[in-house]
Formats: sequence, C-alpha cells, structure tokens
Amino acid sequence: MFYQLPPVGNPICLCPHADASTSSLFSSYKIQFYASGTAALAAAILVAIKQKKSKNIDSNISDNIPEIILPAYACPDLISAVVYAGGKPVLVDLEADRPWLELAQLSSAITVNTAAIIAVNLFGISERWSQLRKLAKQQNIVLIEDSAQYFPAGENLSQDRVQDWQGDLVVLSFGRGKPVSLLGGGAVLTKKAALYEHLPNPGGAASGLIPQLSFGLKARLYNFMISPLIYWLPQSLPFLHLGETRYHALSDIEGLDQVRLELLKGNISRYQNDAEAITRCEKISAILDSQNAINNLPRLCNMKANHRLLRYPLLLDATHRNKVYQKLKQAGLGASILYPTSLPKIAGLKGILDDKLAFPNAEMFASRLLTLPTHSHVSEKDIGKINTILKQVTV
Ligand SMILES: Cc1ncc(COP(=O)(O)O)c(C=O)c1O
Repeated sequence: MFYQLPPVGNPICLCPHADASTSSLFSSYKIQFYASGTAALAAAILVAIKQKKSKNIDSNISDNIPEIILPAYACPDLISAVVYAGGKPVLVDLEADRPWLELAQLSSAITVNTAAIIAVNLFGISERWSQLRKLAKQQNIVLIEDSAQYFPAGENLSQDRVQDWQGDLVVLSFGRGKPVSLLGGGAVLTKKAALYEHLPNPGGAASGLIPQLSFGLKARLYNFMISPLIYWLPQSLPFLHLGETRYHALSDIEGLDQVRLELLKGNISRYQNDAEAITRCEKISAILDSQNAINNLPRLCNMKANHRLLRYPLLLDATHRNKVYQKLKQAGLGASILYPTSLPKIAGLKGILDDKLAFPNAEMFASRLLTLPTHSHVSEKDIGKINTILKQVTV
C-alpha cells in the first residue's frame, strides 16, 4: 500500500555544472528563458502574432483576431498561453490512435487569420515535422514545436536526431514532471534571428543566498517526496491536485531566476547521459510488443525502441484500459491515464472553447490511453510486475 511510483519525475540534481554558461548548451539556437513552459509558449505565440500583423499591414488585410491552431487533445496550458497572447484557439482533431494532428483537418483549419500552428511532441513521441514544416512554409505560418515533454538524449545515446527540434520556435518546459525538471522554468529556442528579436525579454530574478537556500530546500523536499516509499503521502493530499488536468490562466510572462539557470546545465547533462533510462524504455517496449491486445504507441509512430520517452504510452480498448489502470494503480506501479478528455470538455475551459465541437479521435484516444513510468525510480522488479498485470488483464 505504501509503495507508490509517481507516473513521472526524475530527481533534481543540485550540483551546479562547473561551466554554468548556457550559451554552449543549445549551440545552434538563440534562446530566451522564462519562468514556465506556459510563459515560454505564450512568448512564442506573441512572436507569431506580431509576424502575422506585420504581414497583414503589408498586404492590407483587416486585423481580425489571430488564430492559433493546436491539437484537441493536449495540456490545457496550451490554451492559457493562446488566451494570454490574445489569440483565438482553433482545435484540430488527432489522427486516429495517434498523438498527432490530423493532417487533412489541419489543412482545412488554416485561414487568412492563422498566425501559428502549435504541434506537440506528446510523451516524447516526435510529431511529423517534415510534413508540418512543408505545410507551414507553403502557408507562411509560424510553426511552434511544443517540446515540453521531450528533450533529446545525448549524442552518444540517441540514434534518431533528425527528428529533433524542427519548429520555427521550439518551446521547452523545466516544470515538475518534465524531462529536465527544475520545478519551474521554460525556454524558447529558434534559429531565426527575425523571430528571436521579437521574443519578450523579461529578464531573470537576481541570484542571492535566500533564493538559493529556498530552492535548495524545495528541491530536496521534492526529491524526497517522489521516492516510491514516500509518494503515497503527497498523493493523498488533495490540495496538491497531483495528476489532475486543470486549467490555470497565465497572468504574466516572467523570466527564469538565476538559481535555476545555474542548475540547468548539470540537469540537462544528467538527463542526456542517462543510458539506463533508455534501457527501461526498451524493456517496456519489448513487453508491449509481446502482447497482441496492446498497441505499443511509440512503435506505431515509428519511434525506435531506444527513443527517450518521458512516459511510455500504450493504447488498449477502453474497458481493458480501465481495468489495467486500476490494477496497476493498486499495485503502486505509476500508471496514468493523462488528460481525461478532449480540451473543450475539460473543466474551466467550457467558457473559452465551444464544447459542442466534436473531436472523436481525441475522445477515443483519451479513453484508450495508458502511460507507464520510465523515470529513474522504476526498477527491474517494477517492470516485471507491470508485465504480469498486463498479461493477466489483457488475455
Ligand atoms: C505539452 C505541454 N506544453 C506546455 C506545458 C506547460 O509547461 P509548464 O508546466 O512549465 O508551464 C505543459 C505542462 O504540462 C505540457 O505538457
């Protein structure tokens, strides 16, 4: 009963890197840091809207509200960012049984008012960037790559680098449960100087002994709380809302504080060089491949078995999904069903999105999805138990 794996969450590394400069981190990109992934996404959308407005002035098109296209199955923070930036969210359904935008619907959703397409590397599975880039280029629209859930493995570990970071603007999150987590933070990367110039630059909060001590305490407490023998405690505190899908309006775009900035390089380096995480993904992939009733989603999306994933997603029929989820949950094995429904049906979004619009593939995806943990607390024994439960329930 006390053993509970969190669905995501690698411990935070508190050792500053010997060379803490971030300039060499993302060598071919220009980068701006923010206080959260949502703020970073809002900053990217503001740039796209600015681009759109300047093009409209050149071509004498009237200034309607700029439209931002995004998937109908997504984190509600995407809506917070669009609303903050003054855009109108336009939802597009998923491809059937895939975490990707439906390409035909995406093409027909584009209008003269479209300023940006946001596509997401959900769980760490790459979107189809070459197709999306082609479409965005043809239509002269900014392509925003939301990579909050994906950070590439190091050069020596990753074998499919061609897929990595191809949006005009790439958004990262360093929030709780993200690949590189500092309990908050985000960034926008771009290779295009003309886009970089327009990114808001809020500056970072200054460093000092008190922020440093306070972050150190928070991170140590977090590291303690995510250990499998303790996680039942935060999980049982309802005010923490762990694992809930909730809408929070974004109130401001703030910069990343110096304390987190100094820890970023060390945390990235640790994440990128964690060969065991890839081994865990490979082992889970092999288990799923051995069972007919289970769709191994990353494999169906052409990801290699050694692709680094934040969590391991699989699809089952809805009845099996619910049974497997309950069993894995009772055994404390870190399973999650992620977002319960499509965006318009999420509480808090009903006044913002039209809940009469139907997104059948997104709904079906939400009812079939289950994710398994891949983080560093997941042991060989846990993977064995997951295998046993999957076999029992899906035969
Ligand atoms: C795909 C995606 N984009 C953006 C965000 C927002 O990031 P943050 O929590 O750092 O604001 C999240 C958060 O879960 C996310 O999953």
